[in-house]
Amino acid sequence: MGSCSSQGGGSNKIASSCPSQNQQTKQPGSDEAIKEALDKIKNKLMIMSGKGGVGKSSVTINLAMALADKGFKVGILDVDIHGPDIPRMLGIKDMLEMTEDKKLAPLKYSDNLKAVSIEALSVNKDDAIIWRGPMKYSAINQFLGEVKWGELDYLLIDSPPGTGDEPLTIAQKINDAQAVIVTTPQEISLADVRKSINFCNTVKMKMLGLVENMSGCVCPHCSETIPLFGTGGGEKTAKDAKINFLGKIPFDSNMVKCGDAGKSFLKEHPNSPMAKAFLETAQKIINNTK
Ligand SMILES: Nc1ncnc2c1ncn2[C@@H]1O[C@H](COP(=O)(O)OP(=O)(O)OP(=O)(O)O)[C@@H](O)[C@H]1O
Ligand SMILES: [Mg+2]
Repeated sequence: MGSCSSQGGGSNKIASSCPSQNQQTKQPGSDEAIKEALDKIKNKLMIMSGKGGVGKSSVTINLAMALADKGFKVGILDVDIHGPDIPRMLGIKDMLEMTEDKKLAPLKYSDNLKAVSIEALSVNKDDAIIWRGPMKYSAINQFLGEVKWGELDYLLIDSPPGTGDEPLTIAQKINDAQAVIVTTPQEISLADVRKSINFCNTVKMKMLGLVENMSGCVCPHCSETIPLFGTGGGEKTAKDAKINFLGKIPFDSNMVKCGDAGKSFLKEHPNSPMAKAFLETAQKIINNTK
């Protein structure tokens, strides 16, 4: 897997721990290996957005936890190569380890929730990954083909913003993946969402639906909803594009604290409007998937 070689000092450690440097039975990252690795996963959902910072990783984690709490087996695959956030947000510091049959064992968050991220291959978490497109393509292929997920009901794939190498690789390599598009309500974000919708139409990726994040803010004192970035734009965009609207997640400053501290928002604030919104959105996903 010359493909997992690196440029720049920071990524050398990652290259040296690259799984394909171990003996493999199937060509690492081959279509055959990917098919076998993903064979027992019922639903593959790629969380994407046109714009950065709209809450993809937060939505991924909280939907994953909501689905896991409802008894489903869930995996999170972090394909945000340049800004992998998932392990920190889950509060996991472990490194990825190899199984006896030389596959990657996912990080375990709970019995129902596992995760894989490139960050968990890096000894120094502040290392920058300085890779061009083909290297990212190879690395993602290997993650897809070499992780031993076992049986999962849902694999949630957290992608970086935009329609670049990472979402394109997922769209090309997982032909039954469906997109969950995350947006915030303001027009500038919605304009980028329309690009994500066009991307899905162009690469023929099915869209499971759209989530509007930071949709109003419930005042903790008077419980009135303040339309921080507006509200309802996502629902209208989904309607215009004829895709499912999966839910509105309000703004809650505790989300930032939980994300930074690697704590579960759902566990820390189970009775909040945000927790309720995540559970409802997870239920809509369940209703619309296998
Ligand atoms: N509904 C919300 N209420 C309050 N804060 C939120 C909400 N959603 C996300 N955040 C915060 O906004 C910041 C960005 O969120 P996050 O990292 O999930 O976005 P992202 O779309 O994954 O970003 P990137 O494009 O960089 O991958 C984080 O600090 C997160 O805690
Ligand atoms: Mg992110």
